[in-house]
Amino acid sequence: MAADTAKATATHRDDAVPAYDRDLYDQVMTPNYAPMTLIPERGAGSELWDTGGKRYLDLAAGIAVSALGHAHPALVEALTEQARKFWHVSNLLTNRPAIELAYKLVQLTFADRVFFANSGAEVNEAALKLARRHAISRHGEGKTGIIAFDNSFHGRTFFTVCVGGQGKYSDGFGPKPGDITHLPFNDVAALEAAVNDRTCAVILEPVQGEGGVNPASVEFAQAARELCSANDACLVLDEVQTGVGRSGYLYMYEPLGVTPDILTTAKGLGGGFPIGAMLTTAEIAESLQVGTHGSTFGGSPMGCAVAAKVLDIVSDPAMLTSVREKGQMLRLAFADLNEKFDCFADIRGAGLLLGCTLKGPWQDRARDVLRQCTEEGLLILMAGGNVLRFAPALNISEEQLREAVEILGKALAATRD
Ligand SMILES: Cc1ncc(COP(=O)(O)O)c(C=O)c1O
Repeated sequence: MAADTAKATATHRDDAVPAYDRDLYDQVMTPNYAPMTLIPERGAGSELWDTGGKRYLDLAAGIAVSALGHAHPALVEALTEQARKFWHVSNLLTNRPAIELAYKLVQLTFADRVFFANSGAEVNEAALKLARRHAISRHGEGKTGIIAFDNSFHGRTFFTVCVGGQGKYSDGFGPKPGDITHLPFNDVAALEAAVNDRTCAVILEPVQGEGGVNPASVEFAQAARELCSANDACLVLDEVQTGVGRSGYLYMYEPLGVTPDILTTAKGLGGGFPIGAMLTTAEIAESLQVGTHGSTFGGSPMGCAVAAKVLDIVSDPAMLTSVREKGQMLRLAFADLNEKFDCFADIRGAGLLLGCTLKGPWQDRARDVLRQCTEEGLLILMAGGNVLRFAPALNISEEQLREAVEILGKALAATRD
């Protein structure tokens, strides 16, 4: 207490304006992130400028979030138009943007009902709670088994991080929620052996994003669908990273040919504004009665107004076709780089969510390549220490993609030398 008082007094006496730079970050923020030194100042489309005026081409888009790039004029307009009206009314009242966005999601997908929250983790939390509650209310207390997969990632709430298949994120926080089984991804036989009448949900990402950009095979996704149907379990597709056009389809369950019972979407949905949605059928939604779940900010008019605009733009078939074409173009360009450097063991993903596994002198050096790219004015992502991940805005131009690949080539050369 005494120390707190001393600190407060010192802060009040210090009337010099600090630099608000990366050094101050370390003094005032919890140390659970390690951001780069650059601090962005403004963005336009797939370009960002830092506080020193340096330009970066952005193939990260947050982490697959800014679906239409930075400061898209139509999104700025949707947000500011709503901002001038009202920002928040709670779920004691509803609001027009929320109804409009839910209507659009229902029109565009398998779903009949939508629940809004603010992030991927929150909508996955809602999905898992719904799957459990639905199974228990229909079949009794014993039907609580959740099947998830090694290397999957579903968010950082304690339930979702324990369902996620990366122990490093869930260990060290005390007793974990139970009845969660992790299986190898894309292993149909393991899935067949594990799903039974005690299973309430199978949850999977159509492409494991954080876990290394690993696509689910059609066979695996379809087996999950059939096993869930045969055992009265919910198939939950976590499309937080693959959704909203990123795969080249509005949602990736379409090309996989499986209809989920519950689907979660966030990241790209708000184009950078925090919002998430859980989509489900009318029948399953019945298990959420008044008061069973909720969120203060979920369904905020600001987030919903922006997301409705994002959906209008992204669901245009021409936009989705262009995502598939640009994804293909990027894959070919990576293959050319591979011819030149012999650097990638694998190039994989869907649409504009692509991963390149490093090999040879670059093996396990994704961080070094990423740093070098940043030096050269290109922002990219990693997925673990050995996979370069690319998730540009869906409306990035072909010219920008060509420029990015050229910079990546330079960065690969510099990292090797
Ligand atoms: C597939 C998937 N699910 C859930 C999440 C968690 O989303 P959020 O960080 O918005 O809570 C992520 C984030 O990377 C994700 O990729």
